[in-house]
Amino acid sequence: MTSSMGFYRALVLATLQLWCLQSYAQDTSDARALAATCFTCHGTDGRSVGGVPPGLAGQDRNYLLQQMQDFKSGKRPATIMHQHAKGYTDRQLELIAGYFAGMKPGAGAPAPRGER
Ligand code: HEC
Repeated sequence: MTSSMGFYRALVLATLQLWCLQSYAQDTSDARALAATCFTCHGTDGRSVGGVPPGLAGQDRNYLLQQMQDFKSGKRPATIMHQHAKGYTDRQLELIAGYFAGMKPGAGAPAPRGER
């Protein structure tokens, strides 16, 4: 798949998700549905190939949550994530962070360690 296709898919998924968010995002069972929009770029099950963009699986929950809140507020500069993060409530970001933190990082694509 080309990267532009991946981006298009991400946009479609994000749009679909916005339609559903109101009725969708209540509970932990929805965490996977929320996180599914991230797979296009961050890899299926949070493992991005070669670590670009960074893999999310197995990262520290608080670290992930903080990054997304910083994207949302604009504190952390980004090419795409600031737009993405703005689509979620704080509660939804918590669910997503918990979801990825609970995954096992892939052996082939280790998640890069950011500042913690
Ligand atoms: C369109 C592609 C795309 C999608 C979809 C996407 N991301 Fe990202 N993500 C990126 C890119 C690119 C970066 C690097 C920062 C930047 O330039 O925006 C990044 C960075 C991040 C980081 C920082 C990781 C680190 O270790 O520094 C987190 C956390 C993150 N994304 C979480 C998510 C979550 C959660 C979702 C789903 C809600 C998501 N991303 C969806 C492209 C994407």
